Amino acid sequence: MPVIAVVNGPNLDRLGTREPGIYGTETLADVELRCRDAGSAVGLDTRFFQSNGEGALVDHLHDLVGAVDGLVINAAAYTHTSVAIRDALQVLDVPFVEVHISNVHARESFRHTSYLSDIAAGVIVGCGTQGYEFAIQRLARLVHGDAAKDE
Ligand code: DQA
Repeated sequence: MPVIAVVNGPNLDRLGTREPGIYGTETLADVELRCRDAGSAVGLDTRFFQSNGEGALVDHLHDLVGAVDGLVINAAAYTHTSVAIRDALQVLDVPFVEVHISNVHARESFRHTSYLSDIAAGVIVGCGTQGYEFAIQRLARLVHGDAAKDE
């Protein structure tokens, strides 16, 4: 079975209590369960990782080289700042879908810039934690090689 990783960046370990009006009340553990279920429903084995550190995220992306067929990433604040994470995604060289729980385009202007979007296979914003499920469904199409059906 193809393997994907779901990688989350800083402060997403605080989901559930962090600004619930913006990010909802589900915890990261709830999101992980949901991702595993969504993955197995579409024939993907799902690995899950979160870190608050930019270097730890880069190291983890390196560890995934050769081990995964696709990736879902919510790099959180690093989305808007990190050339290092962008470069690590290019090292990893598998299709990835960028997810943001909130609609970053309806928020502060510094959240409108992403260092990842132009190299992403897809971008999902503002769909709450359900966005992770959408991303996994899209990745399944890409990884199983039948994305052309949608294009
Ligand atoms: C976020 C949006 C980012 O701007 C923010 O820094 C986050 C979460 C989202 O999921 O909506 O931490 O990526």
